[in-house]
Amino acid sequence: MTQQVVISGTGLWTPKHSITNEELIDSYNDYADKFNTENADKIATGEIVAKPHSSAEFVEKASGIKSRYIYEKEGVLDINRMRPVIAERSDDQLSNQAEIAVEAARKAMKAANKTADDIDAVIVSCAYLQRSYPAIAIEVQSELGIKGFGFDMLVACSAATFGMHRAYEMIKAETAKTVLVINPELVSPQINYTDRDSHFIFGDVATAIILEAEETVTSHNAYNVVSTKAFTQFSSNIRSNHGYLNRANDTDPYGADKLFHQEGRKVFKDVCPLAAEHIREHLAKHDLTPKDLTRWWLHQANINMNTLISKRLLGREATLEEAPIVLDRYANTASAGSVIAFNLYNEDLVKGDYGILCSFGAGYSIGSLLVQKR
Ligand code: COA
Repeated sequence: MTQQVVISGTGLWTPKHSITNEELIDSYNDYADKFNTENADKIATGEIVAKPHSSAEFVEKASGIKSRYIYEKEGVLDINRMRPVIAERSDDQLSNQAEIAVEAARKAMKAANKTADDIDAVIVSCAYLQRSYPAIAIEVQSELGIKGFGFDMLVACSAATFGMHRAYEMIKAETAKTVLVINPELVSPQINYTDRDSHFIFGDVATAIILEAEETVTSHNAYNVVSTKAFTQFSSNIRSNHGYLNRANDTDPYGADKLFHQEGRKVFKDVCPLAAEHIREHLAKHDLTPKDLTRWWLHQANINMNTLISKRLLGREATLEEAPIVLDRYANTASAGSVIAFNLYNEDLVKGDYGILCSFGAGYSIGSLLVQKR
């Protein structure tokens, strides 16, 4: 008999700093005014276009975001800098991403009643990695005193769900009994705070999840993973060209195309129907329909995307109780959004209730886990 895989605990680390829309937009608008003044001649000749103001009303209406947490606030609102100030750490210090990963991991381990000795593998899965090697996961493993093995993986918006998929398969294959999956989404250094279209979208966070075989579960708040489903389809509509080849390319390694950029409208149009169909198909495999779900822990990129997806599936908008929203205060946290929602809104479900965790975004990538409360 194959192992029943269980999510037995999650952890959420929230940065202590945050930035409201108003603060962010005041800074952007001052930056735009300065840019326009400094480039008045070129703007007058039509060589470059003046930067229009950003607006808090637009941001909240277009995205649902009111505020975002940030690992390091210093520098972001400085119109002469427009990026965080994060001091480089020496090779013998814990790296920034490992530090926030450990914070979330400790909380998940506590929730699942696990010690380092219980864990066989560590997966760090997120949208950006601070370095190529050694793996952040191996650094986290060392810091927590975990034996076994660890590795990093990148799948942008679906890194968390795809990481959980790998843990699920390892437990099913009996190559590991208990796996720690961590999503240290330190995304602020990749945000172009000078880009009106995207300066408001993201926030930093770290989440962690323990998945284990049923036989070792002691947590009282746990979910059976019924099954997983993954989908990818190549698209350049959400893209970052930052990478190790930049050094050889003889281009600006910090140019706008090396940071997050997207064709937001196209993403919205492409991804919503794909995600809705993905969820419908995943449920159908188990003779379930969207109405059978008690909770939807959806990706948190944009409130209008979530509304549209739930409307397509339910024929009406899901309520906040059915499909909780965290992006109003966390913004888009790359792959961690659905895990934040799960962490904050899962205790009230009762035995037998079904829920779905689903991510969708860059790649394109879509990943889901159908779960049932134990
Ligand atoms: N402040 C004020 N106005 C802004 C603005 C800002 N910061 N950014 C854009 N606008 C304006 C545009 O200039 C445009 O004006 P126009 O109609 O006069 O030309 C108008 O608002 C609409 O711009 P658009 O870029 O088409 O906005 P949108 O309504 O599509 O919303 C997103 C932008 C990003 C919120 C939306 O496309 C979206 O949700 N995309 C999904 C993808 C996503 O969020 N991905 C994240 C990574 S997974």
